[in-house]
Parts: sequence; structure tokens; C-alpha cells
Amino acid sequence: NLVSDYYLVNKHHALTLYRPVKPHAHKGTQGHALIIGGSYGKIGAMCLSAKAALKSGCGLVTAYIPKCGYNVLQTAFPEAMVLTDGDEHITKIGYELQPKAIGLGPGIGQHPETQNAIKEFLNRQNVPLVIDADALNILAANKEWLAQLPENTILTPHPKELERLMGGWETDFDKIEKMKVFSKQHNIILVAKDAHTMVVYRGSIYINSTGNAALATGGTGDTLTGIITGLLAQGYEAANAAIFGVYLHGLTADVAVEETSMQAFTAMDVVNYLGKAYLKIE
Ligand code: APR
Ligand code: MG
Repeated sequence: NLVSDYYLVNKHHALTLYRPVKPHAHKGTQGHALIIGGSYGKIGAMCLSAKAALKSGCGLVTAYIPKCGYNVLQTAFPEAMVLTDGDEHITKIGYELQPKAIGLGPGIGQHPETQNAIKEFLNRQNVPLVIDADALNILAANKEWLAQLPENTILTPHPKELERLMGGWETDFDKIEKMKVFSKQHNIILVAKDAHTMVVYRGSIYINSTGNAALATGGTGDTLTGIITGLLAQGYEAANAAIFGVYLHGLTADVAVEETSMQAFTAMDVVNYLGKAYLKIE
């Protein structure tokens, strides 16, 4: 089927998805996001992701990390609650809380024990889920696990991760056709990150219009995972969380560079400028 619906996600489109905070909101109604990831030397990815989740507007954030990151995360981001497992990497994923959404992967690494933890976790998972970074690479190495994913799970690969998941492509057109097949086959939402990020959902392609090359710096992908997970926790439908999240993420860089310059922008500036980005939408 060569016919596709293409949408340009501009301000008008974003406004149709945007959900303002209701006057009687409290932290219970704003949703609890759980972000799982981190390993020795990659705890920063979790600081970025968890902070982005909270600043996207959800009520509570819990970071699930290995013990070596405990002090770092609590210091860098006191608003977060922290659960730990393992010393330098995650060895099992177990908790009592009932999050509204889960983000899996920032800085998680590929230790064999972590791979087992992810396998076991995916087996019993039915909460709205975002999968990124090394969790995607682990999934790509174990493609049979794709069948375990809850419907409308959101995968956020960069081009290399996308290639590992679904194989390579010849042209942009070929890439889009392959992404449509892959997302339909596994009932997932694909966020193909790039200078023009595309969200693929049920055969439709949503092309983002925000963002710039200031985002070409380590850790900005981790903030996108946090934003989308935070929107899911607030009750955005999965496809809308992906499309609106990508738009909002790009918009932070567009508003920031007037003040930071392209060069000095870092991933934490996505977090720092989320407020100004939201104000542009309202
Ligand atoms: N224009 C617009 N947006 C851009 C541009 C650009 N020129 N370059 C990058 N971006 C955006 C992408 O769309 C994406 O949202 O920046 C983000 C980069 O995300 P990642 O490629 O995942 O980068 P990063 O956050 O550094 O990843 C951290 O996770 O995926 C692994 O291998 C990766 O180890 C790395 C870690
Ligand atoms: Mg990444």
C-alpha cells in the first residue's frame, strides 16, 4: 500500500493536541511517571530524563536506577523519588508503585543481567510505555520480545537504533514504507528521530516542524523520552504524547538558541526552556 497520510506538525496541529492544566488538578490527577535506566557513568541520562518528565507537567516522578547513582540523582534532582536495584547496573525491575506511564532505557547499558531484567519486565508489562536508547538495542538483539510489547508502546530510535530494529533502507521513501510495515506488524508507535523527526502511527506519518541543530548534543534524546513519558502519565493518548512531545522538545531548542546560542546549548537546556516552550503554545 503506497498511499499514506502525511501531516505536518505545526503550531496549529500542536494546539489541537495540547491539554491545559485543569484548575482543580492536584499531583494525584497529574499522573505518576516512572523512568527506568542508568548505569555506572550514565546516571546523567536519568537525571535529564526524569527532570524532563516532571517539567512536562506530570505530578510525580520516580527514577529507578542502580545504587551507584543514588546520591547523584537525589542531589541533581530533589523533586524525584528514587528506587534502586543492583550496584552499577540494573539486575531486576521490581516495584510496588502503580505508575501511569513508564520510560525505559536512558543510560541503561547492555549488561547481560540488565537484558534479563528487561526481558522479565516486558513479559508482565501493560502500563503505557516508552522505550529508548540501549533498551532499544537490547530489543533489536532479541526481536521475538517485540511480540510482548503492550499495544501502542512508543519506540524512540535514532537512525542507527532504527536500523538495528528494522534493517536498513535505500531511500527516504523506502525508509517510510519500512517504518509503516514495522509499526503495523508490532502495533507500536515509532518515533524516528532525526533533524525532521517522524512519528509513524497506524500508517500515518507526522512530520515535526520544530527543532534545530543545537539539539545535536549528547543527552537530548534522553530528555525526549522523559517528555513523552511525562505526557503519557498526564493522560495524553499514546500517539498524541509522541507527536506533541516531539513538537514541544524541538520548540525548547527554537526558543532557547536566542539566548544560549547554537553552540552553548546543552541537553539540560531542553529542560530549562520547557517553560518558555509551553508559553509559546498557550
Ligand atoms: N536538528 C533537529 N533535531 C536534532 C538534530 C538536528 N540537526 N540533531 C539531533 N536532533 C534531535 C533528534 O531528533 C533527537 O530528538 O536530538 C535528539 C538526539 O537524540 P539521540 O540521538 O538519542 O541522542 P542522545 O540523547 O545523545 O542519546 C543518548 O542514547 O540513543 C543512545 O546512542 C545514544 O548513547 C546515546 C544515548
Ligand atoms: Mg538516545
